[in-house]
Amino acid sequence: MPGKIHVLPSELVDQIAAGEVVERPASVVKELVENSLDAGATRVVCQVEEGGRALVRVVDDGEGMSREDLALSVVRHATSKLRSLEELERVVSLGFRGEALPSIAAVSRLCIVTRRREDEVASRLDLAGGEPPRLSDAGAPVGTSVEVAELFFNVPARRKFLRTAATELAHVSTWLTRLGLARPGVHLRLEHNGRRVLEAEPSADPAQRAAALLGREVFEHLLPVAREDGGVRLRGLASDPNLSRNNAQGIHLFVNGRFVRDRLLQHAVMQGYRTVLPEGRYPVVVLALELEPGQVDVNVHPQKTEVRFLDTRAVQRAVTAALAARLAEASWLGAARGGPTRDYVLRAERPGQEPAAAEGAGGPAGVRAALGRFQASRAGRPQAGLRFSPPPPGPATPAPRALAGLCEPAPVDPAFEVDRPLREWDFVGTLWNTYLVLTAGDRLALVDQHAAHERITFERLRASLDSGEVRAQRLLVPVQLELDASAAAAAAEHAADLRSMGFELEPFGPRALSVRSVPALLGAAPVAALVRDVLDEFGDTGQGSAFAVHREAVLARMACHGSVRAGQALGEGEVRELLGQLERIDFAGTCPHGRPVLVELGRDEVAGWFLRS
Ligand SMILES: Nc1ncnc2c1ncn2[C@@H]1O[C@H](COP(=O)(O)OP(=O)(O)O)[C@@H](O)[C@H]1O
Ligand SMILES: [Mg+2]
Repeated sequence: MPGKIHVLPSELVDQIAAGEVVERPASVVKELVENSLDAGATRVVCQVEEGGRALVRVVDDGEGMSREDLALSVVRHATSKLRSLEELERVVSLGFRGEALPSIAAVSRLCIVTRRREDEVASRLDLAGGEPPRLSDAGAPVGTSVEVAELFFNVPARRKFLRTAATELAHVSTWLTRLGLARPGVHLRLEHNGRRVLEAEPSADPAQRAAALLGREVFEHLLPVAREDGGVRLRGLASDPNLSRNNAQGIHLFVNGRFVRDRLLQHAVMQGYRTVLPEGRYPVVVLALELEPGQVDVNVHPQKTEVRFLDTRAVQRAVTAALAARLAEASWLGAARGGPTRDYVLRAERPGQEPAAAEGAGGPAGVRAALGRFQASRAGRPQAGLRFSPPPPGPATPAPRALAGLCEPAPVDPAFEVDRPLREWDFVGTLWNTYLVLTAGDRLALVDQHAAHERITFERLRASLDSGEVRAQRLLVPVQLELDASAAAAAAEHAADLRSMGFELEPFGPRALSVRSVPALLGAAPVAALVRDVLDEFGDTGQGSAFAVHREAVLARMACHGSVRAGQALGEGEVRELLGQLERIDFAGTCPHGRPVLVELGRDEVAGWFLRS
């Protein structure tokens, strides 16, 4: 009886292997453009037809190949970028596996034309499916042009899974955007059916590049980030709290020049935003991480978009800290461009008027002025008159000049420069037991009482934790709690951190504990709900992650418990007290969950509603 095992024909082996590298036209574009970048190209043009299903052509002005190299380039595991295992540990090129061209050749009709500076004639290679390659002379400028026609012509199962031209084109542009963000010095262009759809001029300034690739609208919300932390160098741009998306597609992360998809890094980004973005919203971030090549393993997957870090925690911490620090400096800007204000401005626009929402640094001058007054210095100076002042430039994050406008709001209309502490505004009353209505001169402000109080409590908790002096309040009668497994685990694992925050929790059987003290600042909060929520927060962020990573999120949860609610009636004395406290904290632009605390209107804006000029 014959055996049941047999060796697969080489053509089939190639097709199977190709499946790991080439998923759709966008993967072809990615691999070809990466090769162009590795070849030192300064200009790369990518032309696609029918979303790349009919044709992908990538033309570069890189170093080109000799005829011998051209013949070898389509042989599996042939590469010029790597010779030994040691080199793999220090690899700096985008490619290194020698798989892309042979994989593409196995599932398409491939034509490469290439010429080096020193060669008089160009060489041309034609290859289709499993056929033997044909080499010939050609005329062409220095550089390489790779043409991939009829992708998956010989793999109908794959071809069937390709989407519409529009969808495939969208994937192609997504990849070009990533590559373009990673290499701002390279001129990139994408043409679809002969029409230009994307063009990014070379720029030394990553911010300009982000403007070209992500659009002006997004660019205006980006803050520069630069920081070095535990051997990780971070540079990039992060959206202010006023720009967010409902998915993570706007998060672009690069490790040593390579775009990566990494769940843990993405999580670290979200942690950085935890206190300024509402649940379910995602920021736009372009962040390049540089670390010693030996600290990263890039050879995890054939598509090379996954990496492994030697010290994942340190990298995560660096990312979270860089973003959180940057946002703490700038978060007041977010509220200055708060949603309601912007909507209002758009609706109230009258013919012939400049749309106020288009004003670079955001929103009407009056709103900026008001929030400027709330902006306190991170250096901890008491704010005597709460005058309008631009945020102090963080020492670790010098703003590139092109972004200066974002960090230093345009000069404020002098009419609005009311040097009056918030508590001296006239308190008109409370709307729906939720919004405090204030006026001063020609200005009208609404303050969300819960958001304001939450921010105050949050900042006080944070300050006391920073100073290492969290006062705990002992409970007269300890409160006993039954917990689920993950909360119980969190309580045990983070006992020391919890104690540093003022929580003394004593285990009481495997799933129960008794609460002996809570932070004094939260003395009035319902104990059981507070402790459960805090333990949930520790659980959510994942077992074993460092406290520093989710400290802010825990504080935000705590603050929510210790704050007055919307709908809770406040006496005038309590309102004054609240406003007085709001002035004394570090920044009051948004609540710790990212909602605005205050929205301000001018008399002229109100007049605009009634079409009075
Ligand atoms: N655009 C190009 N310009 C110059 N050389 C290229 C180009 N594309 C491919 N090559 C050469 O072909 C080889 C094989 O490419 P590829 O299959 O993508 O593998 P890898 O990039 O992993 O080395 C590369 O190592 C490189 O030497
Ligand atoms: Mg390659």
